[in-house]
Amino acid sequence: MVELKTPSQITAMREAGRVVAQALAAVRAHAAVGVSPRELDDVAGKVIADAGATPAFLNYLPGFAKTPYPAVTCISVNDAIVHGIPGEDPLAEGDLVSVDCGAFVDGWCGDSAVTFAVGEPAPADAALMEATERALHAGIAAAVPGAKMGDVSAAIGEVCRAGRFGLLAGYGGHGIGRRMHEDPHVPNEGRAGRGLRLRPGLAIAIEPMFNIGGRDDSRLDADGWTIRTVDGTRAAHFEHTIAITEDGPRILTAL
Ligand code: MF3
Ligand code: CO
Repeated sequence: MVELKTPSQITAMREAGRVVAQALAAVRAHAAVGVSPRELDDVAGKVIADAGATPAFLNYLPGFAKTPYPAVTCISVNDAIVHGIPGEDPLAEGDLVSVDCGAFVDGWCGDSAVTFAVGEPAPADAALMEATERALHAGIAAAVPGAKMGDVSAAIGEVCRAGRFGLLAGYGGHGIGRRMHEDPHVPNEGRAGRGLRLRPGLAIAIEPMFNIGGRDDSRLDADGWTIRTVDGTRAAHFEHTIAITEDGPRILTAL
């Protein structure tokens, strides 16, 4: 069931989104050669705790997982697409790092992700990041009152296919509010004009995940969480929580 939020509830969600944005900014600022994802996870955890917020991912147990999620962030390096568990291996020059973070403030959730390179990105990685982030913003721009979910999905998928990237089939964005994952599903590919009509008060996380190899398949790591490309090519992930308002889409996880 899709639950619409009131304007004051969206204002409350913005506070959760702000904390997530601050955590991601702090992680990005700390990322460097020799720093481990585990240390970056601690940075995010401290920002969330200092804000009086609650991590949304820690101990989360969705239907698709066998074990509760063990960290504050997902940090997916190089061929890891999403849900990477932050580990002790230090980052190296040129690593492609996707950081996904969620937090609750006053019972409302924000969820956002960014991808960046450690140091100077390889040209192919820079192109991948640019396209994935552009697809996120194309999806957001399509999320206007009266449009259909298929318009959002089509906007994302067209950027992916035009760049000959692959996408993570079966995964996508989601409704969000008092829970991190609510209805509706937000596919990263679809047909314009189809699907749910978008109305003011709808809050969704939009999250394209593209890979360089151009394949749509993936494999689950032995850790039960990390999803990797099958061909070993690198992937990028960008995500914002947004609300559809009378005035158009509003990004709740901007700084
Ligand atoms: N943004 C990710 C998603 O919607 C958050 C995953 S949280 C985790 O899938 F705890 F499940 F990893
Ligand atoms: Co999400």
